[in-house]
Amino acid sequence: MKDGARARDLDALRAEVRRGRIPAHVAIVMDGNGRWAEARGLPRVAGHREGSESVRAVTREARKLGLSALTLYAFSAQNWLRPRDEVGALMDLLREYLLSERAELCDNQIRLEAAGDLARLPSRVREPLAELRGVTAGRPARMVLTLALSYGSREEIVHAARSLASDVAAGRLAAEAIDEEELGRRLWTAGLPDPDLVIRTGGERRLSNYLLWQAAYAELLFVDTPWPEFREIGLLSALRDFQRRERRFGKTSAQVAAEHG
Ligand code: FPP
Repeated sequence: MKDGARARDLDALRAEVRRGRIPAHVAIVMDGNGRWAEARGLPRVAGHREGSESVRAVTREARKLGLSALTLYAFSAQNWLRPRDEVGALMDLLREYLLSERAELCDNQIRLEAAGDLARLPSRVREPLAELRGVTAGRPARMVLTLALSYGSREEIVHAARSLASDVAAGRLAAEAIDEEELGRRLWTAGLPDPDLVIRTGGERRLSNYLLWQAAYAELLFVDTPWPEFREIGLLSALRDFQRRERRFGKTSAQVAAEHG
């Protein structure tokens, strides 16, 4: 397709999506980088690099559409098990991203957050991450971009359970006071609304330890497009799919229809 025609398609899709309900929080499993690269005879890291371009494009589009939160699975707790070279290359890419995105995030009023066992990250990532979180936290924000880094949902729930147990043991918290909110406040995603939509790119149909608690009522969307090719059009198409779904939160279809008049 010619560039002009592609731009017109994108504009038409954007206009259609803007007319519908925009979810507050979208979370994405950015999968398929390695296979995208291997299919082109390139090293896997070339896929991660191209994936960084999708991160930029999707973040910008999400902000333009008015999402209040976007959460990206950038490095899982289990990704530490990958070959040393690949882990090192991913850390380099993250550092590069954190050093280069300052103006983009500030100009677009995006606050950067991170969720995960951040102490495990090397200082070459931890330091620019802390710096950018600090800078963007001090400014007005229209969207929160959370990078799930060294993140695993089970690890997160264990961490929250330990924190609750230690407060109960110390007499700071009554066991009966533990409820969903109290646990939620101790998750690495504390402060974020639950995701409305969780997207996984790259063709696999699983959650891979991502936001298992938070996604209890999320719509799930699995797409075959590898993350490096997802870009603006991928996000817009996913939102159009989301807009066609009915969210019932345990109620009946008739109840939901009555609530929406
Ligand atoms: C999964 O693809 C993706 C990752 C493990 C890393 C995601 C990282 C990026 C998109 C780039 C850096 C991030 C930022 C925020 C700049 P995979 O390698 O498992 O793909 P495969 O299933 O095809 O092997």
